[in-house]
Amino acid sequence: MDINIEEIQTLLDRAAEAREFSYSPYSDYMVGAALLARNGEIITGCNVENAAYGPSNCAERTAFFTAVGKGLRDLRAIAIAGGKRNGERDFAYPCGVCRQVMAEFCNPDSFYIIVGKSREDYRVHTLKELLPESFGAANLKM
Ligand code: THU
Repeated sequence: MDINIEEIQTLLDRAAEAREFSYSPYSDYMVGAALLARNGEIITGCNVENAAYGPSNCAERTAFFTAVGKGLRDLRAIAIAGGKRNGERDFAYPCGVCRQVMAEFCNPDSFYIIVGKSREDYRVHTLKELLPESFGAANLKM
């Protein structure tokens, strides 16, 4: 595995910090994400909900779009910290839309998705494990 425990725990800490910024008055489900770029930068995001529901954005996509907007597209891993406002954290797996956004920018064999209840209790998956047989840019080549 091309990521070490120190990097994983740093990402989980940063995801937990970002979760504090979650704007989730409708679901009360707070999510933070921390995305590690190849150059060592960590880009964070939280979920941002909306009274019209549809415009809401997940924490993972907030982090991804921020990274791409900064010119960072070589991405190694993302950690996710999520759970109900007054409860324990879950293993907060990314939704299908976020997995598809990850697939646009990341190598599915080597991009790691880390879901953690805490910095000790976490799971690490490749994107390929969570989004097998995906549709992507290669399908659109002539
Ligand atoms: N949410 C995320 O931020 N990431 C996910 O992958 C799943 C769901 C957010 C969206 C919404 O604000 C709340 O969690 C409940 O669905």
